[in-house]
Amino acid sequence: MKFFVDTADTDEIRDLAATGLIDGVTTNPSLVAKTGRDFTEVVKEICAMVDGPVSAEVTALETDAMVEEGRKLAKIADNVAIKVPLTWDGLKACRTLTQGGTMVNVTLCFSANQALLAAKAGATFISPFIGRLDDIGEDGIEVIRDIRAIYDNYDALSTEILAASIRSEDHVKRSALAGADVATVPPQVLRDLTKHALTDKGLAAFMADWEKTGQTIL
Ligand code: G3P
Repeated sequence: MKFFVDTADTDEIRDLAATGLIDGVTTNPSLVAKTGRDFTEVVKEICAMVDGPVSAEVTALETDAMVEEGRKLAKIADNVAIKVPLTWDGLKACRTLTQGGTMVNVTLCFSANQALLAAKAGATFISPFIGRLDDIGEDGIEVIRDIRAIYDNYDALSTEILAASIRSEDHVKRSALAGADVATVPPQVLRDLTKHALTDKGLAAFMADWEKTGQTIL
């Protein structure tokens, strides 16, 4: 499974990209607003830091305007993926942009049927928001599982499932088990993936025992 970072914080992205484990980045208007910075500038900076797709979301709500915004954003760098919302206008914009060779991430997906439509519209990525489904008492992972099963039924559908709105380590694990191609993960959750109490305890014991040998490796 590929890991994208779900943030527009360039310091966080720089730090995490240095691990070599980051395959892309997703942003959205709320994440950009949090930075207080210029949108184009932020996207440009992020695109230079990671080789993989960097999602930048349009804010227009009507197809032609979405396409126009998408084309403008796509000029920022070769690795920009245009994010459009899952509406009829968004799906039409998706079709036009992907036919023109631009990567498109269809966002705000909450059902398998929506994901089927996005795939038929040629989406590069579909973003089911699993945390927000859990928030309303539904099972976000179940939606990922359904989308996986549907996409696997049809060879012609090549859209990648990008598990979004991830809130916990458990979401990451269960997205992978459900067959998501990508998980876009908030920086803190990504950092927490290395953590386990037994890793810390085991490491402390190894270090204490090594100390007793009085040896050094270098
Ligand atoms: O990638 C979409 C994601 O940013 C939404 O996450 O936590 O706001 O539901 P959240």
